[in-house]
Formats: sequence, C-alpha cells, structure tokens
Amino acid sequence: MNQIKTNFFIRLTIMILLFSTVSNCGDEKKEKTQELAEKGGGEEQLYRPNFHFTPKNNWMNDPNGMFYLDGAYHLFFQYYPDDNVWGPMHWGHAVSKDLVNWDEKEIALFPDSLGYIFSGSAVVDQLNTSGFGNGTIPPVISIFTYHDPKGEQEDRIDFQYQAIAFSNDKGESWTKYEGNPVLPNPGIKDFRDPKVVWDARRQQWVMALATYSETYFYGSKDLKSWSFLSSFGKDLGAHGGVWECPDLFPMRVTGSEETKWVLIQSLNPGSANGGSGTQYFIGDFDGKTFSLDPDFKNQLDQHKAIWLDFGRDNYAGVTWSNIPKEDGRTLFIGWMSNWDYAQVVPTETWRSAMTIARELILEKDSLGYKLKSIPAREFMDHVNYKPEQRNLEIDGPFKIAGPVEANLSNAVIEISFKTDTKANYTFELSNDFGNILKFGLDNQKQSLFIDRQNSGKTEFSQKFASSISYGQLRKMEGELELLIILDKTSIELFAEGGGTVMTEIFFPDEPMTHLTLTASDNTLVIKSVAVGQLER
Ligand code: FRU
Repeated sequence: MNQIKTNFFIRLTIMILLFSTVSNCGDEKKEKTQELAEKGGGEEQLYRPNFHFTPKNNWMNDPNGMFYLDGAYHLFFQYYPDDNVWGPMHWGHAVSKDLVNWDEKEIALFPDSLGYIFSGSAVVDQLNTSGFGNGTIPPVISIFTYHDPKGEQEDRIDFQYQAIAFSNDKGESWTKYEGNPVLPNPGIKDFRDPKVVWDARRQQWVMALATYSETYFYGSKDLKSWSFLSSFGKDLGAHGGVWECPDLFPMRVTGSEETKWVLIQSLNPGSANGGSGTQYFIGDFDGKTFSLDPDFKNQLDQHKAIWLDFGRDNYAGVTWSNIPKEDGRTLFIGWMSNWDYAQVVPTETWRSAMTIARELILEKDSLGYKLKSIPAREFMDHVNYKPEQRNLEIDGPFKIAGPVEANLSNAVIEISFKTDTKANYTFELSNDFGNILKFGLDNQKQSLFIDRQNSGKTEFSQKFASSISYGQLRKMEGELELLIILDKTSIELFAEGGGTVMTEIFFPDEPMTHLTLTASDNTLVIKSVAVGQLER
C-alpha cells in the first residue's frame, strides 16, 4: 500500500514537472508557429496536402489503432505534439466518416512512467472478452508498445513491452490498464508494434509482433494474458533492416470461397528502392503457426521479397479492424514518408502525411496469389471526372492537362494506352519554375518508375532523390492502364489493377501545373483518358 502511495506521489511530481515544461514548450512552439504564419504561411499554401491527412501541428509517423465503429473510421497515429521532429511518442487521433475528410481530435494516449507510446492497434471487443465493458456498448481496446527511454539509455535490452488501454465511449477517451504491461519483454531489444486480430475459428485474439528480424505470434482469450504461439520469417523475404509494424489477417480470395492469411511486414531500411518499405507474405494460419503458401513461396524464391508498394513513401501501413461483415473489405492506410529523410522534409508547421485510404484485394491467377491495393471506394466517390477522351493517336507529346483544364495539385487521372515493347513512356508533371517530376513505364526494366531528381526541393537530404525508383510490373501486356493520384506533394500510381503500386512525395518550388505524356518512339495510341478533380 505504502509502495503504491509512494509511486503515486512520484508519478504526480513527474506529471507536474512535465506539465510545466510542456506548457513552456507549448508557448515557445506557439510563437514559432505564429512566426511562420507571419512569414506568409507559404508552406501551408504550397505543401499542406489537399486531401491527405496531416496533423495540424508537428510530428507524425505511423498510423496506429485503426478501427471502425458506428459509421466512424478512427485513425490514431504516432505523434509528438511539441516539435516537428520525432520525440516522446503519443497517440494522436483523427476521425472520418468517408475516409477522405479527417477531423483531428484530442491526443488519445500520453507517455507515462512506463515509457513512450509506440505503435500498436485497436480492436472492438464485441464479446467483452476483456471484461472492460460496462454492459452497454462494446469496449474498444488499444494494444501498444511502451518504449522506456530510461531503459534504452541504460543499454538494457528489455525496454519495449506491450500494454493495453480501454475506451468505453467508442475511442473518445482511454484508460490505461492497471496491470500493464500485459506482455513483458523476454529479452529481445526490438520487441514492438502489436497488431491484434480476432481469430473467429479458434475464438482467440492473435497478436503479430515485430521482433527485430522475425514476426512473433501470441494468442490470448482476454487481451490481458498472452502466450507465445510461433515465429515466422527468419530466412524469408527482405532483411536489410529491422522488421516493424506487422499485420496478420484473413482474406477471401476474390471470386472464390478460399480464405488465405496475409502477413504485412514493414522493414527499415532495406525496402525495394531504399529506406523504409512494406513487404507481404501469403499463407495459412492454423491458430498457432503461419505457413507460407507453396505458390507464394515460389514467387518469393524468384523475387526475394514481394512489395506492397514499390515507392519510397508508404511505410508502417496496417489495416482497419472491425469493418462490418456486410462490408467485408480490408482497408489500409500507410505513413507517406521514409525514415531516410522524414525528419528533414521542407515543412515546419507539420511533418508527414498519410497515404490515401486503400482497399486491399487478394487475387489468384496463373502466376499465383497477389495482394493488390486500390483507392478506397469512398475516395473514388469524391472524384468528379471531366468527359473522357477516347482513341487518340498522337505523334509527339500529348498534353493531358494544363492550368486551364485541371488543378494538378488535386487530381485523379485514369489513362490507358498501348505500349510497344521497345518504347518508354514518360509522364512529366511540371511547372513554369522548371520543376519536373517524371514517371512512367521503362520497358527494358519492365517497370514503372518515378524520378523526382528535378522535382523541386531535394537538397534537404542526400537520400531523397539520389536515384530513380522502379516498380516491377508482372505482365507486359501491350497496354498500360494507370491510375494517377496527385496532391500538392505526392503521387500515388496504381498499375495492373493495383498489383504494382508506387507512392512518392516531392516538394516543388511552386505548384505543378502541366502534365504531358511522351513515347520515346513518338507514337502514342491512347485508348482512353479521363481527368478528375477530388471534391471534398
Ligand atoms: C516505425 C516505428 C515503430 C515504432 C514507432 C516509433 O516507423 O519505428 O517500429 O513503434 O515507429 O515511433
């Protein structure tokens, strides 16, 4: 009892000290923000995305704890409210009814004496297995990593452990569980990012956890007591960096009754085009072990790693929980940045945006299983297209849009054109300042590419534009259908129905205003092209 009291007073003193420093920092920060606004708010105008989520102020990284409940999509995120670089992590919170318009809420979880609040997930405990419910509505439970900075400084290896918090008001307010941590550290330095899913068949909760170079799975009946099930991945996939932010979930294969389990696994560095990126695996889960599908294993043997997104700016993405059965979709969002340069990109008021919300689709064809990503239906519902143009044959560059036809900082373009096996096809998104973002199809490499070397500000990091990024296409079919999503500082490319996706950011000196397509052999046969604007 005395011990509890002493702890309480120590915590209280720490809280008071923290509060006074935080409010001083808060004042300084306000002044800094004010100063920026007075400078003309240039970056707000130029760089604040039109339709990608950004926090109003300061630093954001991974999406966390996403769940859907009663018409609202909740998005939590790694957040440092006191500076525009990474720091003691909180969970920020935003809510959307349509996955396009986001309303930023109060901070959901604050660091405390157990540590910073690192990445994790949230589930709606429909059966009240945790016992946290109050009998009226199902409780929402968040499962996250505590990262103890003191332990880290002391060079211990056990400074990351898993904990839970619950909400009885649909995610508005949270109470941390007094029995935390629920999963202590077993002696593994990188031991984090719990993503929990309900395994209906076995009536158990399953946690996927990143442990340096593997994914560990744990099972629980009540979200409070966890036991080790198995590990996966030691010699599989990409291992150029630390594994982070896994996500294991079942998916129905499109057009069949078959269910497969998908494991998404981010890693940093070591991705397809350098730095942070996300790979995936397809297999089966028997309640204990995740085993790779043999077809998928063949693909993996050929390619070494299979990427969810080949671009440099889609990291730590995971899926929403509690999507209603009648809906049945698997919805995903990622952090649209890369640890190679995230902390130095040229915005000051806030740093980082999320990708658009995407739907994941599992397909099987003669080449095996494939996890595709497409924009969430709600996003596409906000696009207002101009009349489509069809069957154009053009010698020389084709002007898709200029300042009169479209706002290219807020555009969705669908284009389908014939591809000759010897020619390259290059889109140029440019402005009168001379910035050019190039992207398109490189036939020799059988790949999409994005080249941001001359796209505007790049000098803030040597790693930002040191090379061209490529995204391997599966089939070269003589025709390319491309969906291009442009915001002020990002491009999201979807080819082969979402089988090859590339997401990258860029920082032009003034808005991009022209978009053209050129074939290296000067022959373009465009089957259709439609330019749309996103309306919110
Ligand atoms: C991934 C990550 C996670 C960790 C969080 C800390 O970007 O490193 O592994 O939980 O960010 O902010």
